[in-house]
Amino acid sequence: MRTTRFEPLALSLLLGCGDSTLSQKELAVVLSMSPIPPPPGSPTNRYAEAPAAAALGKDLFFDKGLSGDGSTACSTCHDPARHFTDGERVHTGLGVGSRNVPTIETAAWQTWFFWDGRADSAWAQATGPIRNPLEMGGSAEGVRARVIDAHGVAWASAFGPVPDDPMVTLALAGKAIEAFERTISPGRSRFDVFVEELRTQGGSSVLTEAEQHGLEVFLDSGCTNCHSGPLFSDMGFHNIGVPQVPKGGMDIGRALGATRVQEDPYNCLGTYSDVAVTPPNALTATDAPGPKPCPELRFLDASFDDWPLAFKTPTLRNVALTAPYMHDGSIATLRGVVELYNELPGTPLIGHRELTLVPLHLTGRESDALVAFLATLTEEDGLDSSAGAAP
Ligand code: HEC
Ligand code: HEC
Repeated sequence: MRTTRFEPLALSLLLGCGDSTLSQKELAVVLSMSPIPPPPGSPTNRYAEAPAAAALGKDLFFDKGLSGDGSTACSTCHDPARHFTDGERVHTGLGVGSRNVPTIETAAWQTWFFWDGRADSAWAQATGPIRNPLEMGGSAEGVRARVIDAHGVAWASAFGPVPDDPMVTLALAGKAIEAFERTISPGRSRFDVFVEELRTQGGSSVLTEAEQHGLEVFLDSGCTNCHSGPLFSDMGFHNIGVPQVPKGGMDIGRALGATRVQEDPYNCLGTYSDVAVTPPNALTATDAPGPKPCPELRFLDASFDDWPLAFKTPTLRNVALTAPYMHDGSIATLRGVVELYNELPGTPLIGHRELTLVPLHLTGRESDALVAFLATLTEEDGLDSSAGAAP
């Protein structure tokens, strides 16, 4: 059995052959990756924590009646049995799209939504697929009618009467869905048990030898420059140069997403947001006293040079079960992802790869170990905890 310890203890404990040690710096990084903390607040949604809104949101998430032709629900693409993904390369709803379905398990912790961050809250995000002709092909009016027909009781207990204005009704439907999404988390994995034992016992043998080796490779390879923190994502946008096969045009990612979120009537500064903004939707509002709301949105520079071809760093929690990978689903396996980082083939169609990225040229054994480590981030039932687990 192999045990990982950190140095001060390791020095005094006379490690057996094959044991791993973590430096103090590595230990600090590892401790920062678990446990998953409770999600931050959602200031634009005053119903975010309301159980009645979450109950309604759950009904809406599984309701095909919100789509234009009654065929497609959120859960059609975000299947709970697949960690809220669909196992396909790109999504298929009423039409075929060009992006891979990400999980919604980390929605409660995100700042920006979609691969390009074109929404700035989970509720604003939810209003997108309902109206997207390639996804659910519905409308604000259609949602209002469906809510009256099929969700009257749950709606009344969450919000009272259904508003006359379909745009207000749609925003509230989104807020209910966000409240439901906030009840979901990636769950507890063997990696979390490992970190808990490191923290409380100074060492752990929960991970296999290959998995511990993979953790070292993960730390040594700079993965945590972007896949950092308990969700293994900095929530930022980076151009890692995934080779794109343009289908009906190049996908420029964040460069367009940043503009779109500024224009979104459902953004943090808009009139549907529960953050008090004076005057409404003023990106440059400076006259209101006190701290300015929506700092992320107000300070967003949509013309930033590094945005073209940048996509949001995806979470690595449960990643072993959410193939295929990348914004376009172009990589079928985790080993394939590691090969991308090993070789960094080709050059991006515009801009450049993030300058910190260099080809890793890992050996076959190191690459396999890295994949084995990623699989320790998978949620497992029955992992008991003495410390606080995910909510
Ligand atoms: C037809 C398939 C499909 C349907 C239906 C669908 N989604 Fe998605 N979802 C996607 C795809 C694809 C993306 C990424 C799209 C992009 O980046 O442009 C996505 C992105 C998301 C995200 C962002 C996750 C992140 O980390 O950025 C959330 C949250 C989400 N969807 C929730 C929902 C909700 C709620 C509904 C129902 C109202 C829904 N989806 C309906 C396919 C779908
Ligand atoms: C410079 C930031 C950065 C670094 C460093 C980085 N990644 Fe990523 N990673 C990303 C971004 C951004 C994406 C999504 C890119 C896209 O879809 O175009 C991604 C995608 C992935 C995916 C696919 C996940 C999914 O659900 O589609 C995996 C797995 C992954 N990275 C693992 C790693 C590993 C392992 C390392 C270290 C060897 C690493 N990454 C280093 C930013 C980074």
